Amino acid sequence: MSINIDHNQGPDVQWLQELANNFFKSIPGSATESSSPTQTKALQQDSLGDINVNDISTPPTSIPDPHFAGAKTPVSLGGAGITPGSINAVNAIDLKNQEQPVDASTLTGSGKNPNSVAGSGISPTAHQQGNGVDLQNPQTELPDPHFAGSGKNPQSAGGKGISPSVKYAEQYDHLPYTDQSDLIPDIKKILAAIPFFNSVEQLPLNYSNASGASYYFLNEKEFAPVTKAAVSNEHKSTGITGLAKPPFDVNLVKKDFPILQERVNGRPLIWLDNAATTQKPQSVIDRISYFYQHENSNIHRAAHELAARATDAYEAAREKVRVFLNAASVNELVFVRGTTEAINLVAKSYGEQFLKAGDEVIVSHLEHHANIVPWQQLAQKNGIKLRVIPVDDDGQVLLDEYQKLLNPKTKLVSFTQVSNALGTITPAKQIIDLAHDAGAKVLLDGAQSVSHLRVNVQYLNPDFFVFSGHKVFGPTGIGVLYGKEELLNEIQPWQGGGNMIKDVTFEHTQFHNAPSRFEAGTGNIADAVGLGAALDYVNKLGIDNIHLYEHQLLLYATKLMKEVPGLRLVGTATDKASVLSFTLKGFSNDEVGKALNKEGIAVRTGHHCAQPILRRFGLESTVRPSLAFYNTCADINTLVSVLHKLKRQ
Ligand code: ALA
Repeated sequence: MSINIDHNQGPDVQWLQELANNFFKSIPGSATESSSPTQTKALQQDSLGDINVNDISTPPTSIPDPHFAGAKTPVSLGGAGITPGSINAVNAIDLKNQEQPVDASTLTGSGKNPNSVAGSGISPTAHQQGNGVDLQNPQTELPDPHFAGSGKNPQSAGGKGISPSVKYAEQYDHLPYTDQSDLIPDIKKILAAIPFFNSVEQLPLNYSNASGASYYFLNEKEFAPVTKAAVSNEHKSTGITGLAKPPFDVNLVKKDFPILQERVNGRPLIWLDNAATTQKPQSVIDRISYFYQHENSNIHRAAHELAARATDAYEAAREKVRVFLNAASVNELVFVRGTTEAINLVAKSYGEQFLKAGDEVIVSHLEHHANIVPWQQLAQKNGIKLRVIPVDDDGQVLLDEYQKLLNPKTKLVSFTQVSNALGTITPAKQIIDLAHDAGAKVLLDGAQSVSHLRVNVQYLNPDFFVFSGHKVFGPTGIGVLYGKEELLNEIQPWQGGGNMIKDVTFEHTQFHNAPSRFEAGTGNIADAVGLGAALDYVNKLGIDNIHLYEHQLLLYATKLMKEVPGLRLVGTATDKASVLSFTLKGFSNDEVGKALNKEGIAVRTGHHCAQPILRRFGLESTVRPSLAFYNTCADINTLVSVLHKLKRQ
């Protein structure tokens, strides 16, 4: 089987449109479904009062907001008790008609544990405090959308140089489009008709995303459903993987994010600073708000109703994280403030306890400061040695050099799955396996990976995995440390206080096992619940669909950006995610950032908290657009147009 693809051409917008429309129809509970006439009517009746949901060009921003009288009316609040999100079909939640939390696992009568047991004196998760989670009969039985029916462990990114997309397609026979044969003629037809911009002058600088019109993913045209996938090594050799796996309707997805309706400098906001933080869907905002309105209490501590609700919601979020990462047990998941805190926890608990003078910790040249500084601090304290895996000129780790660094003194390899400055996807599985062969433990930093590609900790097999909620469409101030259960229970706690103890006397304290062991004091309960809602949202779109869509968008952007005279792309790895770092000859990075901001485009300029890797390329800073699934070809066009305009000045 072979597909003819012109390497000089980027992905076709019409083709992307077709794929988007077709797949969009296939996702159960997708935006299309949710905005079906029946449901739209229901929404109109149940929650929208007299707002016309069909008139998407009339956002509820004009409704006066009593909270902000006299000030600028915020976009996301109406005065009629209606949130813009209730217009967004995908995640519309009618809070007036919800007696129970939105979270399915907390719905009474759903047949799912946990249930509130107020008055019984027992928190629904009290058994967890004794760490007695029965894996044969877990407290929650949320369906795992990733693995249902497949009976197979999914593969994750990196590893043996095979694109994650190809691996995913090979692994998931339960997903649509996994049989390759029937789709080939369709793909050929689509590819044969690829149009492409001949001139950047055609790019619509002032394209309005808020117009409700779908520029590239027009919904008006019906396409025969695409029913099979075609992902092959031939695709891989073109650098365009997962060609036939259609994504979701990105313009409808955009509407789930209230902040993306903002205007900046008179232009529709184009958020291309996703590596720094992602925006939040209305469902996350609503879930946090619901928590404070109906569930707020401290957790694990009392017999009253709200304590039970809050505990359930918090522990249900932990279960969602477990499913998301495919961890073996909720006991392996510690809620922390974010990636930085998680790495510091490992350095200061595991590191101080187990690493001794002369031991070696290996990091890669790609690391952000959060995965460098804690190890340097440990080196100063314990006398360990920090060693660095070099990268090539494309920003790819040199595996041969890595293998030379491994030796009996290597106790830990701590590295990123995706570089925040360059976008490189590292061959995580290979690096982890080699570390284990050398007898070392591994920390895998997923800060930049979890929002872009599937992570399966049982397959990848790191000893620790860390990520931040705010980079995966959840709130700030919440993140996760995954650790293998046995290992976590061997490690000394790093903070002492309430919640993490079994028994305290003035002479002695007995600690709980993980996760409570590492959750001293009152944690960020509401934001953990919000993170659970964010993972629900990601699952709804499907992380593999997200990966495939973003990959196409990255190729599209790379193609267009390369055509800008004087633009130097920094980070050109074959396996890349999301990030498009660059410099523009004749302009400082600040000047470029400001010019983009003038057009409503948000990018990060600076060192990206990763100075060593930028210096490897002779730079102190870059301009860094970074993508998420709500970005479109139109966003890229606007970005590139501004760059061309700058060059013409
Ligand atoms: N680590 C974040 C970034 O890459 C802050 O921008």
